[in-house]
Amino acid sequence: MVKTAVLVSGGGTNLQAIIDSYVSGKIPNCRLAAVVSSNPLAYALKRAEKAGIPGHVVDVNLYPDRGSFCGAILDKLRELSIELVVLAGFMYILDPAIISHYRNRIINIHPALIPSFSGPGCYGLHVHEMALKMGVKITGATAHFVSEDVDAGPIILQKAVEVREGDTPRTLQRRVMEEAEWKILPQAIALYCSGRLKVDGHIVRIMEE
Ligand code: GAR
Repeated sequence: MVKTAVLVSGGGTNLQAIIDSYVSGKIPNCRLAAVVSSNPLAYALKRAEKAGIPGHVVDVNLYPDRGSFCGAILDKLRELSIELVVLAGFMYILDPAIISHYRNRIINIHPALIPSFSGPGCYGLHVHEMALKMGVKITGATAHFVSEDVDAGPIILQKAVEVREGDTPRTLQRRVMEEAEWKILPQAIALYCSGRLKVDGHIVRIMEE
């Protein structure tokens, strides 16, 4: 069993998608051992509680800088002997110490087709505002391993989503979540936990079952 922690900051709909897949047996060989929130009021913590998954808070506001906040997260993950880390709507950039400790063992979901609309400052609703402003007809989501370059680590899965006439950032965000994020994030975790992902430099190969 791969001992897995999900890091969250907000509503946690991606966490819910992971929990639903997990409960229905679609993520074999995974143990959802912890949800770690940067925000003590995140609704994601309630979702964890309802599912019986231990919730932990590492409150970003209690740390003077990114280094000490990330240090506290790494301490928590090590204390819990976590093997796989999933960023599901976690809104902070991890520092190099966590990334190198968990090299190719941190999976992030990004609400665009990387390399579009990605990098520092591209998170949450902003991503969809940028996509609409650019006038793209297709957007989507990407599940990828986290590297030191923001939103630029090895890509595991991507799924395209149509942009429709009259979309607002919120309607587009919702469609990207429903049609892409909530599907490919649990799938990426399942592939990892069943040992089917091989990382070859920047390329992720998906091995046959
Ligand atoms: C999701 O759309 C996720 O892809 C995005 O924030 C939202 C969180 O929603 N993450 C990023 O932009 C990270 N760069 P959720 O809390 O309901 O899962």
